Amino acid sequence: MIKVGTPLSATATRVMLLGSGELGKEVIIALQRLGVEVIAVDRYANAPGHQVAHRAHVIDMTDGVALRALIEKERPHIIVPEIEAIATEALADIEHDGLARVIPTARAVQLTMNREGIRRLAAEELGLPTSAYAFAESLDELVAAIDGGIGYPCIIKPVMSSSGKGQSLVQDKNELASAWDYAKSGGRVDRGRVIVEALVRFDYEITLLTVRAIGASGDIETAFCAPVGHIQKQGDYVESWQPQAMSEVALERAKGIARAVTESLGGCGLFGVELFIAGDEVLFSEVSPRPHDTGMVTMVTQWQNEFELHARAILGLPVDTSLRNAGASAVIYGGMDAKGIAFAGIDQALAVPGTDLRLFGKPEAFQRRRMGVALARGESVEEARERATKSATLVETICP
Ligand SMILES: Nc1ncnc2c1ncn2[C@@H]1O[C@H](COP(=O)(O)OP(=O)(O)O)[C@@H](O)[C@H]1O
Ligand SMILES: [Mg+2]
Repeated sequence: MIKVGTPLSATATRVMLLGSGELGKEVIIALQRLGVEVIAVDRYANAPGHQVAHRAHVIDMTDGVALRALIEKERPHIIVPEIEAIATEALADIEHDGLARVIPTARAVQLTMNREGIRRLAAEELGLPTSAYAFAESLDELVAAIDGGIGYPCIIKPVMSSSGKGQSLVQDKNELASAWDYAKSGGRVDRGRVIVEALVRFDYEITLLTVRAIGASGDIETAFCAPVGHIQKQGDYVESWQPQAMSEVALERAKGIARAVTESLGGCGLFGVELFIAGDEVLFSEVSPRPHDTGMVTMVTQWQNEFELHARAILGLPVDTSLRNAGASAVIYGGMDAKGIAFAGIDQALAVPGTDLRLFGKPEAFQRRRMGVALARGESVEEARERATKSATLVETICP
C-alpha cells in the first residue's frame, strides 16, 4: 500500500528535483497536487521550478560534494534528476548507501548523460537498430572514422551535450575541422570526445513517451503514450504534435525498441524515447529517463500529461496513458538577450480557439532560449498545429 504524508510535517513524503526548469516545474506541480513535499534545486536563483516548490536551493549540481551535502541536509525520499549535467557518481553513491531512491535508477541517469553509454547499450548490447556511428577523440580519429565507413553527410556531437549544443551537420571534408572545434566548445565537459553519426534520411521523427509503473498485477508494467511527432531546428525542438500518424508495423517496432531500452534502464518513471522513422523502418536515436520537451504537448492532449505520469509512476501509483484529443505545441523564444522581459499579445494568443499557454517565468531571456510554449487542441493534428503556431507567433517578448 502506498502512503503519502503531510507536507512540512514529520510524515512528509519528500521529493527533490535536480534541475528545476520548465519540465521540472510541471513535475513539481503534479507532485504538489498529490500532497508531496518538494525541494527544487537548480544552478541559478528563481528557476521556474523554484517558484512552485516548498523549498528552493541554488548549487552547482556537477559538484558531487555539494550535492551530497544538500541531500544529507534535506533527506529526500526520492531524487528526480531533470537535467543531464549532474555529478552522477554522487547519485550512484547515494542510491548505494540507501539514502534515497534515484529516478529511474542511478545507472540509467549515468548511461543517458553520455551519448556513448546509451548508444553502446542500445546498439551493441541490446542489438537495436541505430544510425551508423563511431567515437573520436581527435580530428585525425574523426577523419579515420568517417573515411572508414560513416561517410558524408554525417552529424558530429559532443558525447556530453544537450539541446543541439556543439552539434553540426557536415557535408564534406572541408567542413570537418570547424565541426570538430565547435563540438569541443559545445560539450558540457571538455573531454574532446565526440560521436559521429551517419545522417539518417528519415520521413519523420517521434518521441515515444514510455512509462514504467506498478500495474494492477503489482509488478512494473510498460505503457506507451500515442507517438509525439516533432520538428527540430539546430537540434532544438520548435513544434510537436500528438498523435503522429504511423503505419502499424512502424508503431509496433517503435514500441518494441522503447520497451527494450526502458526495461534495460530499469526503475519506475516516464522516459522519452527518440526514434527516426523511414517507411516501416525504425531507428533508435536516444532516450531521456524523464519527461521530454516535445512531450509538453501532452498538457493539452492526454488525461494525464507526461509530468503527471512521471509523478504517479515514481510514487508507485497507477497510470493512464490514454489520449484525449489531438493537439500541438509551439515554442516561444526569448528573441532578445535581456533580464525581466515581459510577454505582450497574450490576450490575442489565447483568443485563438482551443489554445493555452505556459510562460515559464525564467528570470533571463536569450535569443534562442525557450521562454514559453503555446498549446492547442484540435479536431485534427493539422488544425491543432495551425492554432499552436499562430498562438505562439502572437506572443511578443518585450523589454519593458
Ligand atoms: N544521425 C542523425 N540523422 C539525422 N538527424 C539527426 C541525427 N542525429 C540527430 N539528428 C537530428 O538532430 C536532433 C537532435 O539530436 P539529438 O541526438 O537528439 O541531440 P540532443 O541530445 O541535443 O537532443 C534530432 O532530434 C534530429 O532531428
Ligand atoms: Mg534529442
